[in-house]
Amino acid sequence: MEKTANVNSRSDERSLDPESWDALRALGHRMVDDMLDYQAGVRDRPAWRPLPEATRRRFRTPAPAEGLGAEAVYEEFREHVLPYPAGNIHPRFWGWVKGAGTPTGMLAELLAGAMNTNAWGNEQAASEVEAQVLAWFAELFGLPADSTGVLTTGGSVANLVGLCVAREACGGFDAEGAGWPADAPAPVLYCSTETHTSVDKAARLLGLGAASVRKVPVGDDYAIDVAALRAAIAADVAAGRRPFCLVANVGTVNTGAVDDVAALADLAAEHGAWLHVDGAFGALAVLAPEHAALRDVLARADSIAFDLHKWLSVPYDCGGVLVRHPATHRAALSARAGYLAHEARGAASGHAWFNELGLELSRGFRALKAWFVIREHGFARLGGQIAQNLRQARALAALVEQAPDLELLAPVALNVVCFRVRPPGVEEAALDALNREVLLRLQERGIAVPSGTRLRGRFAIRVANVNHRSRMEDFHALLAAVRAIAAEIADERPAAPPARSVEAR
Ligand SMILES: Cc1ncc(COP(=O)(O)O)c(C=O)c1O
Repeated sequence: MEKTANVNSRSDERSLDPESWDALRALGHRMVDDMLDYQAGVRDRPAWRPLPEATRRRFRTPAPAEGLGAEAVYEEFREHVLPYPAGNIHPRFWGWVKGAGTPTGMLAELLAGAMNTNAWGNEQAASEVEAQVLAWFAELFGLPADSTGVLTTGGSVANLVGLCVAREACGGFDAEGAGWPADAPAPVLYCSTETHTSVDKAARLLGLGAASVRKVPVGDDYAIDVAALRAAIAADVAAGRRPFCLVANVGTVNTGAVDDVAALADLAAEHGAWLHVDGAFGALAVLAPEHAALRDVLARADSIAFDLHKWLSVPYDCGGVLVRHPATHRAALSARAGYLAHEARGAASGHAWFNELGLELSRGFRALKAWFVIREHGFARLGGQIAQNLRQARALAALVEQAPDLELLAPVALNVVCFRVRPPGVEEAALDALNREVLLRLQERGIAVPSGTRLRGRFAIRVANVNHRSRMEDFHALLAAVRAIAAEIADERPAAPPARSVEAR
């Protein structure tokens, strides 16, 4: 029966394209209008709100056999997804380190979606766009023009890529053979105790146990103690170990501290070690005129991890890594195969081949939104926004320092302000619970979203300002709300049960 079927009959063939392009066009126009309204009106909505249980339950239904059609799905999205975002597009969101994105970045996502290109690096315009974005950053960071790089999901993967190349560069690791030979000197990576957990994760993924990662103490400024680092390296060398990589923080996640990159570069050179800079957000400070000199020290790095979805306001996700040594970069991450062979002509030609510089083979066109945001505004304007955030952070810190009932918990090197409320008469032992409760009420009421952290054993309300929408009035509103909530808690009899951290860190 099947053998005699008319192979020329195609009447049962279908695609996933719409039955009516006109109907989809109308829906698409509505979506664009709605989303622009959504972005334009963000200030009028709460900074964050929790998901109602009924909404959460809607996402626990069985796998659908039948489809609803695009209009119905869009209505579901509008009603049950859109109202409950992470909050980072809001002008009073300063939690963790989350960028706000831009409306044209959003539209660029639509354009990239329309092309649905697999930006792995072959001969196509997307490869040139990504190569250009990376070349711009190499120029901004003072790295050589032939540096290689790749855009990543974010700083975590950028750190992983940088450290993977560092492992390759150290000479002891044999990727094509035994890995770490049993008789090789034990490799050691150095970073401060304030280093982001993604570096620990990267070390783990690269087969470096915790014993191979030296966490060096920091000074009062939360930057790495260079004397302690020097002593740690000397002790390892004396014990026959191999210092293979130093990680410099340019903007620590907790407080925005900047390590003495020049001193670390000197030490790395002295010991033949790799210097990786985690500049997830801090490296972008080089765009602000007041931090232009940062370029001189970034220029000494062997690799730099940086994020575009944080301080450059490119929509999620978009990070990047640049490497000074192209051959080592390729050796660390390329995996050739007959089915991936390059050709001199045709679709498998090209010069970028990002799959040989990063973790992924298939990857989206995230370069387009970065390219769009940068081309639209230019680096001078984007640097101006960063300078604005720096000014706001300094002003917020000054307000905290001037207030007898507020306490600054760390120096403000860049854009991160850690503080706590300390009403008269409240004892030290009660301050952690009070401040955590203040933070949770700020978030739950949608007033503002700072996040929390612990600094030298004390709970801090942490404002990481990478938000181009924030105005000074937002920071005044934050401090007013912090004080009002602290007073409200003091008035509560009996006292509200102190909030407990879900995961003590
Ligand atoms: C200093 C630092 N490094 C790395 C990361 C990880 O970046 P991502 O969240 O983009 O993976 C962060 C995130 O906040 C960070 O602040």
